[in-house]
Amino acid sequence: MERITKKNKISKILIFIFFALSFSFSENQSIKDQFISDLLEKMTLEEKIGQMTQVDRQFIELSDINEYFIGSILSGGGSTPEVNEAKAWADMVDQYQQEALKTRLKIPIIYGIDAVHGHNNVKGAIIFPHNIGLGCMRNPELVKQAATVTAEEVAATGIHWTFAPCLAVSRDERWGRAYESFSEDPGLVTDYSAAAIKGYQGNSLGEKGKILSCAKHFAGDGGTLWGTGLKGKIDRGNTILNEDEFRRIHVEPYLPAIDAGVGSIMASFNSWNGEKVHGKKDLLTGIIKEELGFEGIIVSDWQGIDELPGDYKSDIIAGINAGIDMVMVPGAVPYGGESFKIFLKLFKEAVLEESILMSRIDDAVRRILTVKYDMGLFEHPMADRTQVNNIGTDSHREVARQCVRESLVLLKNENSILPLNKENQKITVTGSHADNLGYQCGGWTITWQGDSGAITDGTTIFQGIITTVSDPSSVILSENGENLLDADVVIAIIGEKPYAEMEGDREELIIDKNDLKLLKKIKESGKPVAVILVTGRPLIITPYLDDWDALIAAWLPGTEGEGVTDVLFGDYIPTGKLSVSWPKHMNQIPINIGDENYDPLFEYGFGLSY
Ligand code: GLC
Repeated sequence: MERITKKNKISKILIFIFFALSFSFSENQSIKDQFISDLLEKMTLEEKIGQMTQVDRQFIELSDINEYFIGSILSGGGSTPEVNEAKAWADMVDQYQQEALKTRLKIPIIYGIDAVHGHNNVKGAIIFPHNIGLGCMRNPELVKQAATVTAEEVAATGIHWTFAPCLAVSRDERWGRAYESFSEDPGLVTDYSAAAIKGYQGNSLGEKGKILSCAKHFAGDGGTLWGTGLKGKIDRGNTILNEDEFRRIHVEPYLPAIDAGVGSIMASFNSWNGEKVHGKKDLLTGIIKEELGFEGIIVSDWQGIDELPGDYKSDIIAGINAGIDMVMVPGAVPYGGESFKIFLKLFKEAVLEESILMSRIDDAVRRILTVKYDMGLFEHPMADRTQVNNIGTDSHREVARQCVRESLVLLKNENSILPLNKENQKITVTGSHADNLGYQCGGWTITWQGDSGAITDGTTIFQGIITTVSDPSSVILSENGENLLDADVVIAIIGEKPYAEMEGDREELIIDKNDLKLLKKIKESGKPVAVILVTGRPLIITPYLDDWDALIAAWLPGTEGEGVTDVLFGDYIPTGKLSVSWPKHMNQIPINIGDENYDPLFEYGFGLSY
């Protein structure tokens, strides 16, 4: 009897706790719903369409926020405050917020940025390997940790929202955004999807040190065909697939993201079977909102509606009616875009003439207000200054260094010249990418296109080598390949110069001619050579591979160059596996795992070890 009554007591307590929790949850839900409904009811048309408008900080005056009820500000790539350091960013975001809180209904702004491989616009922030390298780790948990660190560093600057993760499934290496994709394999991208969302957002929006994430670019961004894109190349082109294949390859990765609670999804510039995604209601509303039950914000890409057929007003009508809730206008007049003031004027006309119904407007604004509420922006609109030093820390750096270690892929290692010896070995380090932090970070770093040189804080691969060997005088840096004859081994660190988006579209994926001159010198010296490729994608190396004793694909490793030297000297035994197929020749491209007559130089999943 005794045991039974005790068991009853425990079960009664558990039942009470369950109902108490579910009551408080539903109580909170009804408080939120009531708050948002009351606010929506009070809003004028101008206030509603202002909430649906996102403007880049460089195209708006502080007073505009109050005058036009702007709901969101972004920093496009390189759109930074005068002084590019954490406190200045937080001060800037707070300035905009203070303006927003002067409006009649005091609705806070939400500030977005492309923190796509770390908080990459901010000097001193940790820069992670770009996604193509993270794909080679086969480690969703570490991707979650990388997103967690990025979220902490973004939150440290007072910013609320990153336009990441990119869930592109890149099927053609000629695409300038191939490195932003985790893999050509939809399964691998899907494996990473929820991990990234949880890293950025936590288990529910509004947690300390967490931010709103944005799964992008829905959908088919990585499936476009060469010749259908901008300037006859591939970016923003046409993805031609039947619905089953389109869903299997390009929609699939979004399912776990939505299940994980992603708060925003960005529409994609590309077309699917000739129709621009930004205007496709069957995709944006039909699949994302109705079929998958997404309750967050669909945001356009930068001037994404401008590429729709028709004039600007018809673009606005088509985009909003397709299901876009917030338009990244962004007011980029210098780049041929429209001022946000024109956008608002035409948007209002469209609603007044009922080309856009108020029910669509209210759905969009409700979504925006709900995300802002869940983010805690109504309660805590200003930057959390206690976090302002949580950027570029040693513990964050260690996470990035581990990502670098695990992202490297050992593709060749004859005569076991790797791992290198830390002593009793004369090493000559050559190549344009040996001692160049900007090159090893790639695009989307400090500026949109990235740059050369010491663009931020970090360690180059050469600096990593110097700090690893016992006697630094045993290492010579000779970027152009002089002084080879004294070397016991030559390390040639070559690759691509930084690029982003359409600027990286390349018809030929060839090794730079200066790098070829260097490789010829090395070959003539007869010295054993390990080549390290610092690139955003595979290059055609077939004609030269036999001259190399060892080869490592380092991708775009970011600021932690010591992660590369950890592998070079065997402090980390290489585990990376290719996230993309490595073509033998250009005429094989596009080449993807699962193709008929699949015959790459190195297949998807290949990777050696010591
Ligand atoms: C760019 C990119 C998108 C980015 C946005 C804001 O054009 O397509 O990935 O988030 O504009 O910078």
